[in-house]
Amino acid sequence: MAAARVIGVLTAGGDCPGLNACIRGVVGRAVQTHGVEVVGIENGWEGLMHGHTRPLDRNAVRGIVGRGGTFLGTSRLDPYVHGDGYASVRHTIEANGIDALVVIGGDGTLRSALRLAEEGLPVVGVPKTIDNDIAATDVTFGFDTAVQIATEAIDRIATTAESHNRVMLVEVMGRTKGWIATYSGLAAGADAILIPEVDVNIEEVAEVLRTRHRHGHSYSIVVVAEGVRLPEGLGGGTATQGLDAFGFERLGGVAYRLAPLLEQLTGFETRVTVLGHLQRGGTPTANDRVLATRFGAAAADFAVAGRSGIMVALRGTELVAVPLADAVAEIRGVGPELYGVARTFFG
Ligand code: F6P
Repeated sequence: MAAARVIGVLTAGGDCPGLNACIRGVVGRAVQTHGVEVVGIENGWEGLMHGHTRPLDRNAVRGIVGRGGTFLGTSRLDPYVHGDGYASVRHTIEANGIDALVVIGGDGTLRSALRLAEEGLPVVGVPKTIDNDIAATDVTFGFDTAVQIATEAIDRIATTAESHNRVMLVEVMGRTKGWIATYSGLAAGADAILIPEVDVNIEEVAEVLRTRHRHGHSYSIVVVAEGVRLPEGLGGGTATQGLDAFGFERLGGVAYRLAPLLEQLTGFETRVTVLGHLQRGGTPTANDRVLATRFGAAAADFAVAGRSGIMVALRGTELVAVPLADAVAEIRGVGPELYGVARTFFG
């Protein structure tokens, strides 16, 4: 593939802390190091489908490394769900002279990036999501910040739980995987952590809480991942508010289904806090800023070198290129070793 002279960059899907740092990484490396032009595409795939773009130079990305969200905007619109794939973005690509596209997104976005690459558009993917569920990279940026926010929130909830002798269920994001729940629960010393990877046994959770209370601790924290599914005997399924524009379930509220069940089994007053979008907003941690900047700079290098159909990934301490096809083949869940360590401290 020929070396790129004009790179397009977009952020698609749910936002996460570190996106601005990543765009800055792409622009800084492309413009300063390679002397290549960058075109910013607004509101994700939507801007690519409708021709909403703006030139990005070094000045356009000054002062944004620590800012949350994405200054380019994002959406859950998709060329393969809401358009005809490459045909629906071709006019924007040609009108801007874009010869390589850097796509910063989660699994849904990266799947569409792969299909565009297969249709002939040079594409380099960058993994981002607070969910940390993309198998081909050791970690995604946004995760560290979300874990930090959730941990701080659980620490705060624990003190009011203690004052009132309550059981508090704290529901965190993560869609189908329990990374944020396991990390923040472990870090905050949760008394139980419920994740989609492990079948819910409500009687076991109740017993953990009863034992804890018998040992003189009259409050407890249970971290619940939003994607947890209840067993059929408890009504089955999770809690959703329909589907989003992409077709994903809009999760949230399963802790409200669990709370009365636990209260009934234990007799302990039980309350719920759903952390929701707090986990995605605001300033990224230093780790996420650094990782996102490195991902962006590497993506620019790969795009300028004419690479396509690949995603930037962290393996150990090195950044590597992995085939996009491998990157979207599998969603990674929490393994037994990590969950086992967290479980050691339940109760
Ligand atoms: O994928 C990131 C994520 O924050 C999930 O954890 C969550 O289920 C989903 O996005 C929420 O998306 P939205 O902001 O579109 O409701």
